[in-house]
Amino acid sequence: MVPPDASNTKAPEARTVSIPDEKINCLPGCFITLEGGEGAGKTTQLSTITAFLQQRGIRFISTREPGGTRVSEAIRAVLLATDLPAMHADTELMLMFAARNEHLQQLIIPALQRGEWVICDRFTDASYAYQGYGRGLSLPRIAELEQWVQGSLRPDFTLLFDIDVQLSRQRAARRNRVDVANVDRFEQETCDFHEKIRAAYLQRAAQEPQRFIRIDASQTQAAVGTAVQQALSQILTQRAAQHAVRTIQ
Ligand code: TYD
Repeated sequence: MVPPDASNTKAPEARTVSIPDEKINCLPGCFITLEGGEGAGKTTQLSTITAFLQQRGIRFISTREPGGTRVSEAIRAVLLATDLPAMHADTELMLMFAARNEHLQQLIIPALQRGEWVICDRFTDASYAYQGYGRGLSLPRIAELEQWVQGSLRPDFTLLFDIDVQLSRQRAARRNRVDVANVDRFEQETCDFHEKIRAAYLQRAAQEPQRFIRIDASQTQAAVGTAVQQALSQILTQRAAQHAVRTIQ
Protein backbone atom coordinates (compact mmCIF):
# COMPACT_ATOMS: atom_id res chain seq x y z
CA MET A 1 0.00 0.00 0.00
CA VAL A 2 1.32 3.44 -0.89
CA PRO A 3 1.51 5.58 2.26
CA PRO A 4 -0.39 8.85 2.04
CA ASP A 5 1.88 11.63 0.85
CA ALA A 6 1.57 14.49 3.33
CA SER A 7 2.56 17.03 0.69
CA ASN A 8 -0.44 16.00 -1.43
CA THR A 9 -3.00 16.06 1.38
CA LYS A 10 -3.15 19.80 1.62
CA ALA A 11 -5.68 20.86 4.21
CA PRO A 12 -7.81 23.91 3.55
CA GLU A 13 -6.06 26.97 4.88
CA ALA A 14 -6.72 27.29 8.58
CA ARG A 15 -8.17 30.54 9.85
CA THR A 16 -6.31 31.91 12.79
CA VAL A 17 -7.26 34.61 15.27
CA SER A 18 -6.89 37.83 13.35
CA ILE A 19 -6.37 40.25 16.23
CA PRO A 20 -3.74 40.04 18.95
CA ASP A 21 -5.00 39.28 22.42
CA GLU A 22 -4.03 42.65 23.91
CA LYS A 23 -6.40 44.36 21.44
CA ILE A 24 -9.27 41.93 21.73
CA ASN A 25 -10.69 43.53 24.85
CA CYS A 26 -10.60 47.04 23.37
CA LEU A 27 -12.82 46.42 20.35
CA PRO A 28 -15.07 49.41 19.65
CA GLY A 29 -18.38 47.51 19.81
CA CYS A 30 -20.30 46.52 22.92
CA PHE A 31 -20.77 42.87 23.80
CA ILE A 32 -23.89 42.10 25.82
CA THR A 33 -24.97 38.62 26.81
CA LEU A 34 -28.31 37.38 28.15
CA GLU A 35 -28.29 34.61 30.71
CA GLY A 36 -30.66 32.80 33.05
CA GLY A 37 -32.41 29.50 33.61
CA GLU A 38 -35.01 27.92 31.38
CA GLY A 39 -38.30 29.80 31.09
CA ALA A 40 -36.78 33.04 32.40
CA GLY A 41 -38.13 34.89 29.36
CA LYS A 42 -34.84 36.28 28.07
CA THR A 43 -35.56 35.32 24.47
CA THR A 44 -38.94 37.09 24.69
CA GLN A 45 -37.17 40.26 25.85
CA LEU A 46 -35.00 40.33 22.73
CA SER A 47 -37.68 42.38 20.99
CA THR A 48 -37.52 44.99 23.80
CA ILE A 49 -33.75 45.19 23.38
CA THR A 50 -33.99 45.38 19.60
CA ALA A 51 -36.55 48.21 19.77
CA PHE A 52 -34.45 50.12 22.33
CA LEU A 53 -31.32 49.98 20.17
CA GLN A 54 -33.17 50.77 16.93
CA GLN A 55 -34.80 53.85 18.49
CA ARG A 56 -31.36 55.17 19.37
CA GLY A 57 -29.83 54.40 15.99
CA ILE A 58 -27.34 51.93 17.50
CA ARG A 59 -26.07 49.35 15.01
CA PHE A 60 -26.25 45.84 16.40
CA ILE A 61 -26.60 42.16 15.67
CA SER A 62 -28.50 39.67 17.78
CA THR A 63 -27.41 36.08 17.95
CA ARG A 64 -27.49 33.03 20.21
CA GLU A 65 -25.44 30.20 21.67
CA PRO A 66 -24.95 27.46 21.02
CA GLY A 67 -25.38 28.58 17.41
CA GLY A 68 -25.20 31.82 15.45
CA THR A 69 -23.41 30.55 12.34
CA ARG A 70 -24.24 27.64 10.03
CA VAL A 71 -21.53 25.43 11.51
CA SER A 72 -22.41 26.39 15.09
CA GLU A 73 -26.13 25.82 14.45
CA ALA A 74 -25.25 22.33 13.16
CA ILE A 75 -23.34 21.69 16.42
CA ARG A 76 -26.35 23.07 18.35
CA ALA A 77 -28.62 20.51 16.71
CA VAL A 78 -26.38 17.72 18.06
CA LEU A 79 -26.16 19.31 21.51
CA LEU A 80 -29.90 19.70 21.98
CA ALA A 81 -31.07 16.54 20.20
CA THR A 82 -33.26 14.22 22.24
CA ASP A 83 -33.10 11.41 19.69
CA LEU A 84 -29.36 10.81 20.21
CA PRO A 85 -27.92 8.79 23.13
CA ALA A 86 -26.72 10.87 26.09
CA MET A 87 -23.22 12.19 25.44
CA HIS A 88 -20.27 12.35 27.82
CA ALA A 89 -20.23 15.65 29.74
CA ASP A 90 -16.74 16.51 28.41
CA THR A 91 -18.00 16.01 24.86
CA GLU A 92 -20.85 18.40 25.58
CA LEU A 93 -18.43 20.98 26.99
CA MET A 94 -16.06 20.76 24.04
CA LEU A 95 -18.91 21.00 21.54
CA MET A 96 -20.13 24.15 23.31
CA PHE A 97 -16.69 25.70 22.94
CA ALA A 98 -16.26 24.44 19.37
CA ALA A 99 -19.52 26.14 18.43
CA ARG A 100 -18.39 29.23 20.36
CA ASN A 101 -15.06 29.45 18.58
CA GLU A 102 -16.74 29.41 15.19
CA HIS A 103 -19.31 31.95 16.36
CA LEU A 104 -16.65 34.31 17.71
CA GLN A 105 -14.41 34.13 14.68
CA GLN A 106 -17.14 34.36 12.05
CA LEU A 107 -19.67 36.67 13.61
CA ILE A 108 -19.02 38.20 17.02
CA ILE A 109 -15.47 39.53 16.68
CA PRO A 110 -16.05 41.01 13.19
CA ALA A 111 -19.18 42.80 14.45
CA LEU A 112 -17.34 44.19 17.49
CA GLN A 113 -14.51 45.32 15.19
CA ARG A 114 -17.05 47.22 13.09
CA GLY A 115 -18.17 48.99 16.29
CA GLU A 116 -21.54 47.25 16.46
CA TRP A 117 -23.28 46.00 19.57
CA VAL A 118 -23.61 42.25 19.85
CA ILE A 119 -26.58 40.92 21.78
CA CYS A 120 -25.95 37.26 22.44
CA ASP A 121 -28.56 34.94 23.97
CA ARG A 122 -26.23 32.90 26.27
CA PHE A 123 -22.46 32.68 26.24
CA THR A 124 -19.68 31.26 28.42
CA ASP A 125 -21.44 31.91 31.74
CA ALA A 126 -23.83 29.19 30.57
CA SER A 127 -20.93 26.76 30.20
CA TYR A 128 -19.87 27.47 33.78
CA ALA A 129 -23.46 27.17 35.02
CA TYR A 130 -24.64 24.13 33.04
CA GLN A 131 -21.50 22.09 32.39
CA GLY A 132 -19.58 23.25 35.48
CA TYR A 133 -22.14 23.49 38.26
CA GLY A 134 -24.89 21.42 36.58
CA ARG A 135 -22.82 18.51 35.25
CA GLY A 136 -20.06 18.86 37.84
CA LEU A 137 -17.17 19.44 35.41
CA SER A 138 -13.98 21.09 36.61
CA LEU A 139 -14.23 24.89 36.65
CA PRO A 140 -10.49 25.37 36.00
CA ARG A 141 -10.84 23.20 32.90
CA ILE A 142 -13.69 25.42 31.65
CA ALA A 143 -11.50 28.44 32.38
CA GLU A 144 -8.74 26.90 30.22
CA LEU A 145 -11.12 26.46 27.30
CA GLU A 146 -12.43 29.98 27.82
CA GLN A 147 -8.89 31.36 27.67
CA TRP A 148 -8.05 29.26 24.61
CA VAL A 149 -11.14 30.20 22.62
CA GLN A 150 -11.68 33.79 23.75
CA GLY A 151 -8.27 35.03 24.86
CA SER A 152 -9.16 38.00 27.06
CA LEU A 153 -12.46 38.71 25.31
CA ARG A 154 -15.32 38.80 27.82
CA PRO A 155 -18.83 40.25 27.60
CA ASP A 156 -18.97 43.93 28.56
CA PHE A 157 -22.31 43.42 30.29
CA THR A 158 -24.50 40.45 31.13
CA LEU A 159 -28.22 40.72 31.82
CA LEU A 160 -29.10 37.91 34.21
CA PHE A 161 -32.78 36.97 34.03
CA ASP A 162 -33.23 35.50 37.46
CA ILE A 163 -36.31 33.54 38.44
CA ASP A 164 -37.39 31.01 41.04
CA VAL A 165 -36.92 27.51 39.59
CA GLN A 166 -40.44 26.28 40.38
CA LEU A 167 -41.99 29.29 38.67
CA SER A 168 -39.74 29.01 35.63
CA ARG A 169 -40.50 25.31 35.32
CA GLN A 170 -44.24 26.04 35.38
CA ARG A 171 -43.72 28.56 32.60
CA ALA A 172 -41.55 26.16 30.60
CA ALA A 173 -44.14 23.40 31.07
CA ARG A 174 -46.88 25.70 29.75
CA ARG A 175 -44.71 26.61 26.77
CA ASN A 176 -43.84 22.97 26.13
CA ARG A 177 -47.46 21.86 26.15
CA VAL A 178 -47.92 24.17 23.21
CA ASP A 179 -44.59 23.24 21.61
CA VAL A 180 -43.89 19.62 22.60
CA ALA A 181 -41.54 19.01 19.67
CA ASN A 182 -39.14 21.66 20.97
CA VAL A 183 -38.36 20.26 24.42
CA ASP A 184 -34.57 19.92 24.39
CA ARG A 185 -32.13 17.80 26.41
CA PHE A 186 -31.54 20.53 29.00
CA GLU A 187 -35.22 21.23 29.57
CA GLN A 188 -35.65 17.54 30.40
CA GLU A 189 -33.23 17.84 33.35
CA THR A 190 -34.35 17.59 37.00
CA CYS A 191 -35.33 20.42 39.33
CA ASP A 192 -32.15 19.82 41.31
CA PHE A 193 -30.09 20.43 38.15
CA HIS A 194 -31.92 23.71 37.49
CA GLU A 195 -31.48 24.82 41.14
CA LYS A 196 -27.73 24.38 40.67
CA ILE A 197 -27.85 26.46 37.51
CA ARG A 198 -29.64 29.30 39.27
CA ALA A 199 -27.24 29.23 42.22
CA ALA A 200 -24.29 29.24 39.82
CA TYR A 201 -25.52 32.30 37.96
CA LEU A 202 -26.20 34.17 41.21
CA GLN A 203 -22.74 33.31 42.48
CA ARG A 204 -21.08 34.50 39.27
CA ALA A 205 -23.13 37.70 39.36
CA ALA A 206 -21.97 38.34 42.94
CA GLN A 207 -18.35 37.80 41.88
CA GLU A 208 -18.57 40.28 38.99
CA PRO A 209 -21.08 42.97 40.00
CA GLN A 210 -19.66 45.45 37.48
CA ARG A 211 -20.54 43.17 34.56
CA PHE A 212 -23.81 41.55 35.67
CA ILE A 213 -27.15 43.33 35.85
CA ARG A 214 -29.74 41.17 37.59
CA ILE A 215 -33.28 41.39 36.22
CA ASP A 216 -36.12 40.01 38.35
CA ALA A 217 -37.71 37.74 35.75
CA SER A 218 -40.58 36.63 38.00
CA GLN A 219 -42.40 39.91 37.26
CA THR A 220 -44.91 40.40 34.47
CA GLN A 221 -43.51 40.60 30.93
CA ALA A 222 -44.18 44.35 30.86
CA ALA A 223 -42.34 44.92 34.15
CA VAL A 224 -39.39 42.80 32.97
CA GLY A 225 -39.37 44.87 29.76
CA THR A 226 -39.13 48.08 31.79
CA ALA A 227 -36.26 46.62 33.83
CA VAL A 228 -34.47 45.65 30.61
CA GLN A 229 -34.82 49.20 29.27
CA GLN A 230 -33.45 50.59 32.53
CA ALA A 231 -30.50 48.20 32.31
CA LEU A 232 -29.74 49.30 28.74
CA SER A 233 -29.95 52.97 29.76
CA GLN A 234 -27.49 52.22 32.55
CA ILE A 235 -25.13 50.58 30.02
CA LEU A 236 -25.37 53.60 27.70
CA THR A 237 -24.57 55.95 30.58
CA GLN A 238 -21.58 53.87 31.66
CA ARG A 239 -20.24 53.67 28.12
CA ALA A 240 -20.60 57.42 27.67
CA ALA A 241 -18.67 57.96 30.91
CA GLN A 242 -15.91 55.54 29.82
CA HIS A 243 -15.70 57.28 26.45
CA ALA A 244 -15.40 60.69 28.16
CA VAL A 245 -12.56 59.42 30.37
CA ARG A 246 -10.72 58.01 27.32
CA THR A 247 -11.16 61.31 25.46
CA ILE A 248 -9.71 63.31 28.38
CA GLN A 249 -6.73 60.92 28.58
P1 TYD B 1 -32.19 27.17 24.20
O1 TYD B 1 -33.37 26.52 23.56
O2 TYD B 1 -31.57 28.32 23.49
O3 TYD B 1 -32.55 27.46 25.68
P2 TYD B 1 -32.91 28.81 26.39
O4 TYD B 1 -34.09 29.38 25.64
O5 TYD B 1 -33.21 28.38 27.78
O6 TYD B 1 -31.67 29.66 26.28
O7 TYD B 1 -31.11 26.03 24.42
C1 TYD B 1 -29.83 26.26 24.80
C2 TYD B 1 -29.48 25.30 25.91
O8 TYD B 1 -28.09 25.08 25.93
C3 TYD B 1 -29.87 25.83 27.28
O9 TYD B 1 -30.58 24.84 27.97
C4 TYD B 1 -28.56 26.04 27.98
C5 TYD B 1 -27.60 25.16 27.24
N1 TYD B 1 -26.22 25.66 27.20
C6 TYD B 1 -25.23 25.00 27.91
O10 TYD B 1 -25.52 23.99 28.56
N2 TYD B 1 -23.95 25.45 27.87
C7 TYD B 1 -23.59 26.54 27.13
O11 TYD B 1 -22.40 26.93 27.10
C8 TYD B 1 -24.62 27.21 26.38
C9 TYD B 1 -24.28 28.42 25.55
C10 TYD B 1 -25.92 26.74 26.45
